[in-house]
Amino acid sequence: MEYKNLILEQNGAIAVLTINRPKALNALNADTLTELSTVFDELGRDSSVKAVILTGSGEKAFVAGADIAQMKELNGLEARRFAQLGQSTFRKLELLSQPVIAAINGFALGGGCELAMSCDIRLASETAKFGQPEVTLGLTAGFGGTQRLPRIVGTGVASELLFTGDIIDAQEAYRIGLVNHVYPSDKLLEEALKLANRIAGRAPVGVQLSKSAIQRGINMDLDSAQDYEAAVFALTFSTRDQKEGCSAFLERRKPVFEGL
Ligand code: HXC
Repeated sequence: MEYKNLILEQNGAIAVLTINRPKALNALNADTLTELSTVFDELGRDSSVKAVILTGSGEKAFVAGADIAQMKELNGLEARRFAQLGQSTFRKLELLSQPVIAAINGFALGGGCELAMSCDIRLASETAKFGQPEVTLGLTAGFGGTQRLPRIVGTGVASELLFTGDIIDAQEAYRIGLVNHVYPSDKLLEEALKLANRIAGRAPVGVQLSKSAIQRGINMDLDSAQDYEAAVFALTFSTRDQKEGCSAFLERRKPVFEGL
């Protein structure tokens, strides 16, 4: 499918999805959110895709937030609908069967930081900047930021960021655990592809069920989450890849996984 504000490319088993509105620093308007929702459905159906990399177009920004020009004129009901569109789109991303790596190549502010937090793994360029500056605009975060940021970095650090709107650099984002790794800008995509390919080389059902156990389990009590873990663990025993993986280990050879 053709998209106006997105570029979807496939590199072997890896899909690279680029948000492409560089003149507005890839800000998320309603059209872009709707396209994202559609592309996540498309990716979820594509079993040839084993991992996804999400990045922003241009040198400057991953995503500079929700589109402020579009948001400015909303009334209360429209604002709620806009928040819900972003929330449901990002939740779809979070629950996408394949793992998603955010390659954060510049500003990840407001909705951009919230988008990155909906990915499984965050890699940043040295020039990346993060923040939830909504309170500087007279708003609150509305695409899940008040919920995901404390889950990732803890309530104290999240509260400081959400109450001040302060922008932090990549090293600080690394220090607080918001990103997994920081790379020079010209190496970011290469490193994201390397990681995505390492993941793509593992048993796909095992990877997808691990993701599901993390994303579903984090919102459950421990006993329910462990029950869910036991269920997904058991499910892997209905796959050929489980037989292949265990046999290959015992036969001292590399496994050949089929994704079945
Ligand atoms: C719309 C945006 C934008 C945004 C940048 N642009 N961010 N347009 N929405 N979020 C546009 C600018 O208007 C400008 O357009 C062009 O992109 C380049 O931006 P500049 O400001 O000229 O660049 P620079 O001086 O380098 O500053 C970069 C920046 C700044 C620090 C990232 O653009 C900035 O502060 N942007 C807003 C960041 C923000 O507050 N994000 C949170 C939004 S609220 P023109 O046409 O003038 O060239 C949010 C809420 C989510 O995300 C929840 C909703 C429910």
